[in-house]
Amino acid sequence: MDTGTVSMDSVLVTGGAGFLGSHLCDRLVERGHDVLCVDNFFTGSKRNIAHLIGRPYFELMRHDVTFPLYVEVERIFNLACPASPIHYQFDPVQTTKTSVHGAINMLGLAKRVKARILQASTSEVYGDPEIHPQTEDYWGRVNPIGLRSCYDEGKRCAETLFFDYHRQHALDVKVVRIFNTYGPRMHPNDGRVVSNFIVQALRGEDITIYGDGSQTRSFCYVDDLIEAMLRMMDTEAGFTGPINIGNPGEFTIRELAEKVVALVGGRSKLVFKPLPADDPRQRQPDIALAKGKLDWQPRVALEDGLGETIRYFRDLLAA
Ligand SMILES: NC(=O)c1ccc[n+]([C@@H]2O[C@H](COP(=O)([O-])OP(=O)(O)OC[C@H]3O[C@@H](n4cnc5c(N)ncnc54)[C@H](O)[C@@H]3O)[C@@H](O)[C@H]2O)c1
Repeated sequence: MDTGTVSMDSVLVTGGAGFLGSHLCDRLVERGHDVLCVDNFFTGSKRNIAHLIGRPYFELMRHDVTFPLYVEVERIFNLACPASPIHYQFDPVQTTKTSVHGAINMLGLAKRVKARILQASTSEVYGDPEIHPQTEDYWGRVNPIGLRSCYDEGKRCAETLFFDYHRQHALDVKVVRIFNTYGPRMHPNDGRVVSNFIVQALRGEDITIYGDGSQTRSFCYVDDLIEAMLRMMDTEAGFTGPINIGNPGEFTIRELAEKVVALVGGRSKLVFKPLPADDPRQRQPDIALAKGKLDWQPRVALEDGLGETIRYFRDLLAA
C-alpha cells in the first residue's frame, strides 16, 4: 500500500465541489497530485473549493457527468451525485441519470485512458437491512419503487456497472460503501440529521426528531472517511471491494440531538414528528474488511467531530 508518498499522478474528482469531494481535493492537492475537480454545482459550491482556486495543480471544470467527458487522467474518484434525500428527491430522474449515466461516462473514460476508478457508493445499497451490522456480502433489502429508490437503486446499478466493466474489460475498479459522514462543508439545508440539529441549535430553534428518536445511526467524521478512500485507491490492482467505510459507534438520534444541544449550549427543546417513508431503523457498518485491508479505523470521537462541525456552521451562519 502506498498511502503517504507524494506523486504527481493526475486525478479527476467528480463532485469535487461537494462536501466530501472538496475535502478529498484538499488532501489530493496536499499530496502533490494534479487535481481536476469536475462539478455541475447542483449541491456543491465554489465556496467549498475557493481556497484551492489559483493553486498550480488544481483545476476546476463545470460539467455534468451525465454527459461524456474527454480528459487525460490516471485516477478517477467518482463522487458526483446529490447525497441527501431533499436534494436527490428534488429531481429523481436526474438523480438516477447522475448515478447511472454518470457511472457509464466515467467508466468509459477510465477504459479509454486506462485509469483506475473508485466509486463512492453508499450504505443505502443495503436498504432497510435485516442484519446488523452490515457486512459487504449482504445483498440488501431495497424498495425498487419508493421515494428513495432513485438514489438507492441508482447507486446499486452503478455498482453493477463497475463490476461488469471490471469483469468484461479488466478495468481497475474500487468500490467504497460510505456510511453516514458529517463534518464542515455539509450543506446547511440538506435535511441531514447532523446539519439539521446543529443549525437548529445554533439558531436557538427546537430540534426536530423524526420518529421517537430511538432509531440508531453511526456517524463518521469526514477526515476519517477521506483517509479510508485514499487508502482504498492505493490498494493493489485486483482488490475491488466493495468495502464498507464508516464509524461503527452507534448512537440513537435522540442521543445525537442531546449531544448537539449540550455542545452548542442554548435552550433548544426536542420535538418529535412522524418518520418519513422507507427510513431505516438502524444502520451500522461492519468495518472488519477496512481494518484488515486498509489498516484503517475511525479515530475522531463524535464530540470532537461535532465540535469542528459546529464551529464551521457558526461561522457560516454569522457570515
Ligand atoms: N455524505 C455522506 O454521508 C455520504 C454517504 C454515502 C455516500 N455518499 C456519496 O458520496 C458522494 C459525495 O456526497 P456528499 O455528501 O459530498 O454530497 P454533496 O451533495 O455535497 O456532493 C455531491 C457533489 O456532486 C455534484 N453533482 C451532483 N450531480 C452532478 C452531476 N450530474 N454532474 C456533476 N456534478 C454533480 C454536486 O454539485 C456536489 O458538488 C455522493 O456520491 C454520495 O452518494 C455520501
